[in-house]
Amino acid sequence: MTLNEILVGRRSCRRFTAEVPSREVIETLIAEALTAPSSKNTRSTRYVVVTDPAKLEIMSRMRDYGSALLSGAPVAIVVCGDAQASDLWEVNCSISATILQLAVEEHGLGSCWVHVKDRPHLKDDPSAGSAEEWLSENLPIIPAGWRPLCVVAVGYPEVPAKPHAPKDDSDKVLWVE
Ligand SMILES: Cc1cc2nc3c(=O)[nH]c(=O)nc-3n(C[C@H](O)[C@H](O)[C@H](O)COP(=O)(O)O)c2cc1C
Repeated sequence: MTLNEILVGRRSCRRFTAEVPSREVIETLIAEALTAPSSKNTRSTRYVVVTDPAKLEIMSRMRDYGSALLSGAPVAIVVCGDAQASDLWEVNCSISATILQLAVEEHGLGSCWVHVKDRPHLKDDPSAGSAEEWLSENLPIIPAGWRPLCVVAVGYPEVPAKPHAPKDDSDKVLWVE
């Protein structure tokens, strides 16, 4: 699979088969994500790999929208940043999560980014606190000092991804010559 094929063919996957990717595959994915560039080479991104179905079910309830898919995912990788290691830990996490999602494709797996940082637990009730607070209270698995940016759900796609139709994106690019 070429990088172009991965980039053009990748879609978010929200429904997975029951097959659990092997630990070896997950370790390879993490090793590949760990190659991500980072500000000042601080390598501030950390990963929490969750495979326990009961914990995935709890995690799926961290938000009342957009996180339910986690209960049907065989693996969830919480992409965290060590805020002490870099003031740009969120940017570093974003790059790491993106590279993780691209690596996933090469292994025949699918993934979906589920955002955590600055997302409310309940979208219409800010008093219910943030998804991050809800997670730390209801599923205290993230080590102190690590801040979650997002969760990347990973598994074998139930149906093959249908690539986006080609678009005219010419208005998104400005050439200065
Ligand atoms: C920063 C970011 C946050 C996202 N948050 C969620 C989310 O919370 N839940 C979800 O189901 N998908 C989420 N997604 C996936 C997007 O909805 C998806 O990438 C977008 O609709 C484009 O579809 P595609 O990935 O199939 O190309 C997120 C993606 C990004 C990059």
